[in-house]
Amino acid sequence: MNEPLQIAVVGCGYWGPNLIRNFRSHSDCVVKTVCDLNEERLNHMKGLYPEINTTLDYMDIINDDGIGAVTVATPVDLHYDLAKKCLLAGKHVFVEKPMTSSAVHSKELVEIAEQGRLTLMVGHTFIYSAPVRRIKEIVDSGELGEIYYISSRRLNLGLFQRDINVTWDLAPHDISIILFLFGRPPYSVNCQGKAHINPGIEDVTNLTLNFDNGGFATIHSSWLDPNKIREMIIVGSKKMLVYDDTEPLEKIKIYDKRVEAPPHYDDFAGFTYSYHYGDMYAPYIQQTEPLKVETRHFLDSIASGEEPITSGRDGHHVVQILEAASRSLANDGGAVIIDG
Ligand SMILES: NC(=O)c1ccc[n+]([C@@H]2O[C@H](COP(=O)([O-])OP(=O)(O)OC[C@H]3O[C@@H](n4cnc5c(N)ncnc54)[C@H](O)[C@@H]3O)[C@@H](O)[C@H]2O)c1
Repeated sequence: MNEPLQIAVVGCGYWGPNLIRNFRSHSDCVVKTVCDLNEERLNHMKGLYPEINTTLDYMDIINDDGIGAVTVATPVDLHYDLAKKCLLAGKHVFVEKPMTSSAVHSKELVEIAEQGRLTLMVGHTFIYSAPVRRIKEIVDSGELGEIYYISSRRLNLGLFQRDINVTWDLAPHDISIILFLFGRPPYSVNCQGKAHINPGIEDVTNLTLNFDNGGFATIHSSWLDPNKIREMIIVGSKKMLVYDDTEPLEKIKIYDKRVEAPPHYDDFAGFTYSYHYGDMYAPYIQQTEPLKVETRHFLDSIASGEEPITSGRDGHHVVQILEAASRSLANDGGAVIIDG
């Protein structure tokens, strides 16, 4: 039997502990070392898991040849530097979203991982959630017909970030889901928004993605909204789907609604739309913790050598879109073509 893979986690703030807990639930890996600049966070982790090594210096992890994989759960500014050092040291890397703060950097990480035949996976967690998996099956089955557009809203009061705007903070989730559903990156984006609280850091934005198959998606992100809203609407030529992630049970509802223009008419008086109103149903979804599925997938990808579902390449596409969104924001919403 193979020895369990030794892994390390850098960053034990809000999100890192969730990753540690889930990696610890898999018997084919051990969380050997966790790193943070904040000693209090390390003491907290040591209190929870006394057998784990702690360090303030991530170089202790890079220099530990026993550690085969590293999870990066720090603020985005550190992702590139740390992931690059890990890959160059021959370690597999799981990096949180957004993968990096520049597309030049995310592309470089993909290349280094490919050259080293190492697994590089990005934490686009929603792709591992049961509702999104189910929506993908429904879309691919053709039940909704041709997808006309997707409209997504991710709104809340806070949590304000100091280093990135609301698009970089919240929209990676929507972008990754939309790319997963359309199966391709967009060719251009437009983004408008405003900074009300911290000058230069937009707290509300509207991002539009344009796809070469005619698909179209809008993403409204806000830290300045009275309600917590996590909603995605998919409008197809046959049916419409509403995904409300705040619903405890019926997260997905499928509406048998559509509108058809008449195939032909002789004069304008003869032009009548046909509105179809049918039933609504909410498919049963078995709830599983997405992070458990995601961490399992990382370990399986390392073992098989196959590209993860949320690979470095997918993470790079998301960063390209975020970067294009920032350029569009600076240009009052003008269209920005996505490179490549
Ligand atoms: N996939 C998801 O659903 C999801 C959810 C939340 C956050 N995230 C991502 O996780 C990452 C971390 O977010 P967070 O909310 O936990 O942030 P956080 O600020 O709560 O935690 C980050 C931690 O990193 C530590 N850190 C900073 N620089 C470091 C360094 N040089 N060496 C070691 N540790 C260092 C900080 O001390 C802090 O404890 C971000 O990329 C974020 O986008 C993902």
